[in-house]
This record gives sequence, structure tokens and C-alpha cells, in this order.
Amino acid sequence: MAAFTAEDPDDRTAFDVHMAKVRKSPEVTTRAVTADGRLVGSVASFVIEGTTEVTYWIDRSFWGQGLAGRALALLLDSVPVRPLFARVASDNVRSLKVLQKAGFAITGTEISFANGRNMEIEETILRLDEPAKTTPSDVSSRERRTY
Ligand SMILES: CC(C)(COP(=O)(O)OP(=O)(O)OC[C@H]1O[C@@H](n2cnc3c(N)ncnc32)[C@H](O)[C@@H]1OP(=O)(O)O)[C@@H](O)C(=O)NCCC(=O)NCCS
Repeated sequence: MAAFTAEDPDDRTAFDVHMAKVRKSPEVTTRAVTADGRLVGSVASFVIEGTTEVTYWIDRSFWGQGLAGRALALLLDSVPVRPLFARVASDNVRSLKVLQKAGFAITGTEISFANGRNMEIEETILRLDEPAKTTPSDVSSRERRTY
């Protein structure tokens, strides 16, 4: 389970309010991850305290098929902002692997409160400086499609 979650991930109303805000924000790029036409996750970048971070999740029954890695690679191609940052619970080895494979490098750790575990845990901070492989002309924040 992801450690850094919403306070109550089962609160559908709060989720809908949050998603409506996210979908309108020019500072957020969010993409659905699908497998055989079925929604199995999402990947996104967002601005927090002036820096741009990435986040993602994949339905547990689809873990280990390379979906997070592929989704993140596609996001990195369409979001030209650098540096990009990521924060992950230090014991989330799958996510650390996904990020490092995408070129993110560990820059440090911090102790933060994780709603998903209701306690303070160590999170690892990662940074990507490598430029996007392609810079499509239609990816200005206004024109990017959000889902
Ligand atoms: C993290 C998460 C997105 C990974 O999704 P995924 O589609 O299974 O990821 P991938 O298949 O692309 O890659 C997982 C990598 O971890 C590796 N891995 C899987 N289990 C592992 C384990 N127990 N120990 C070490 N590595 C492991 C896989 O081999 C793979 O590496 P590889 O590409 O070198 O083979 C998924 O576990 C998830 O949604 N977790 C909950 C939400 C979350 O943690 N989001 C990230 C917050 S920063």
C-alpha cells in the first residue's frame, strides 16, 4: 500500500472534489494508465512549493508487468520541466526501482507523516535532471490533455 495517501482514501466525495481541482489546474498533468482498455492506474506530475513532483499507482493485480515504468517514461517524455522530483517511502522498493530505472537519482531522506500508515516514516527524495527524450510541440501546460 502507498504510504503517502489522502487522509481517508475511501472518502469518495473528497476524492471527486480533489480530482475536479486537479483536472482544472494548469500545474498538473495527469494520465490514466490502461491495460486492454481497462483503467489500472494513473501517473501524474504536480507542482508543490515551487517544485514539480511525479506520482503514480497501479492496481495491485497488475503489479510486476512493467506498467508503472512504461507510464512514467511516457509522462517524462511529455512533461519537459526539469528538475523533476519524487518522494517515496524508503521501504517501497518497487517504486524506488521504477524511479531509478527512469533516471531519477536519490538526493536524500526525510522523516514525514504518512497517512497510509498513520505514523512518521522515512521517505527518500529523488531528482531527475535528464531532459525529456522528445519535446513534442503540443505539450504546453495549457494544451496538455488531462483525464
Ligand atoms: C510502485 C508501483 C507503482 C509499481 O508498479 P508496477 O507496475 O508493478 O512497476 P513495474 O512493473 O514497472 O516495476 C516494478 C519494479 O520493481 C521490481 N520489484 C518487484 N517486486 C520487488 C521486490 N519485492 N523487491 C525489489 N524489486 C521488486 C520489479 O522487478 C520491477 O523492476 P524491473 O523493471 O527492473 O524488473 C506499484 O507497486 C504501486 O502502485 N504501489 C502502490 C502505490 C505507490 O507506491 N506509488 C508510488 C508512490 S511514490
